[in-house]
Amino acid sequence: MTATFHAPPGGAAKRGLIEVSGFSLSYETLDGAMPAVEDTDLVVRPGEFVSIIGPSGCGKSTLLNAVAGFLKPTAGRVTVDGEPVKGPGADRGMVFQQYSLFPWKTVRENVEFGLKMKGISADERTRSARTLLGLAGLSQFEDHYPDRLSGGMKQRVGIVRALATGPRVLLLDEPFGALDAQTRQIMQQILTNLWQRLEISVLFVTHDIDEAIFLSDRIYVMTARPGAIKAEVDVALPRPRDAGLALLPEFLALRAELAALIREESLKAMGGELNADALQGLAINLHGASIGDVI
Ligand SMILES: Nc1ncnc2c1ncn2[C@@H]1O[C@H](COP(=O)(O)OP(=O)(O)OP(=O)(O)O)[C@@H](O)[C@H]1O
Ligand SMILES: [Mg+2]
Repeated sequence: MTATFHAPPGGAAKRGLIEVSGFSLSYETLDGAMPAVEDTDLVVRPGEFVSIIGPSGCGKSTLLNAVAGFLKPTAGRVTVDGEPVKGPGADRGMVFQQYSLFPWKTVRENVEFGLKMKGISADERTRSARTLLGLAGLSQFEDHYPDRLSGGMKQRVGIVRALATGPRVLLLDEPFGALDAQTRQIMQQILTNLWQRLEISVLFVTHDIDEAIFLSDRIYVMTARPGAIKAEVDVALPRPRDAGLALLPEFLALRAELAALIREESLKAMGGELNADALQGLAINLHGASIGDVI
């Protein structure tokens, strides 16, 4: 892989401390308040790469959106470098699962947008955008419009755009979910490279256990809704990491540990009607009958 150095947790980066404490968030619905996340504590140290995994609907996006400043907690605190988060800000870059580029702007104009809003001069904007596009391998596409880019490229532009204003923390919500496995691996390496070079903190949401292990210094596992932190797992695997990592016994042990934690919560999230015994029941010999005939 291309990265040759690594910012250890709490290492070179001096800023970018995310602290979430006693955090709860309920959505107002027609049936009343619906708790999505309850009494959650989480920390990302300056320069650290932290992932959140958990079953669908457990509140991962809710938590990330609160750190981004799009949602306000019902209780508790979210701070970045000790400052309470009051709304979205240039100190926090956000990348969404859906591609969210402006279709009428070129790649470079998309990346420059946040800088333009900050009043940065045209020359300086172009210089910053070109540097970041170069790091993400997108130099030759700077004048293209988003509809001519592949999914992987669009998402790379999304990451570069989130980084352009020089945020202290980068927040990503399943950014590679729609990509094929090969593209996903390349994207993971590009993200690792950008994270190390820019010495920022990353909070990353994913469903994919392997992805979380490959990228992270630490992983939080959330419980089923209402989400809370179920476990916190250190990923003490050496960097730089490459595809060979998945063959190490330490990787396999971590994967098994995380899979067991998630499985437990996914079963709970299905409402209790499915449990391990019920799933084993699916292996019953139906003697040639279809499942529809017997249930
Ligand atoms: N605007 C809303 N109004 C009411 N309920 C909501 C709203 N947004 C999310 N929810 C509910 O809150 C819970 C948490 O949602 P959230 O999107 O944070 O989960 P998630 O962990 O990101 O799920 P996924 O893995 O499917 O992306 C879910 O049960 C969801 O249905
Ligand atoms: Mg989500």
